[in-house]
Amino acid sequence: MAQLSESADVPDLGRRQFMNLLTFGTITGTALGALYPIVKYFIPPSSGGGGGGVTAKDALGNDIVVSEFLSSHVAGDRTLAQGLKGDPTYIVVQDDHTLSNYGINAVCTHLGCVVPWNNGEGRFICPCHGSQYDNTGKVVRGPAPLSLALVHANVADDKLAFIPWTETDFRTGENPWWA
Ligand code: FES
Repeated sequence: MAQLSESADVPDLGRRQFMNLLTFGTITGTALGALYPIVKYFIPPSSGGGGGGVTAKDALGNDIVVSEFLSSHVAGDRTLAQGLKGDPTYIVVQDDHTLSNYGINAVCTHLGCVVPWNNGEGRFICPCHGSQYDNTGKVVRGPAPLSLALVHANVADDKLAFIPWTETDFRTGENPWWA
């Protein structure tokens, strides 16, 4: 309140100056608004958190191009990519040679080893203490206490986006333990 009366007491802020200030503020605001998507583009999505997604990247940090990816992978493949928060995340090629709409976080729920896919067994088998997960990442043998975490995997513009999975875990019918 004190500030208000102080500014009201300033006599020489003429109408022109006031209008100039107003115009400047409006233009600045408009410019910042226009810049926002550009600035946002250059901020790594993974650093933002807050429920955002990330573009899946290969081991070299390049965006995975879905058409190229599918041309070099066969049905049933499970391939590691960089996912949310940099977590190793499997991309799943389905029997119809399309990508599944979910990715599987490769971090073992026992003590955090990265769990490799065993194509012969059709399972993820952890080399650290032998935990096993089926082809959807559902735990089928301990000591891992929980299934591998899921993310959504959405294709748009030939890129793959991993997005946090907060809905029911379709493998267990339960709330996701990781959300
Ligand atoms: Fe995977 Fe222990 S860390 S079984």
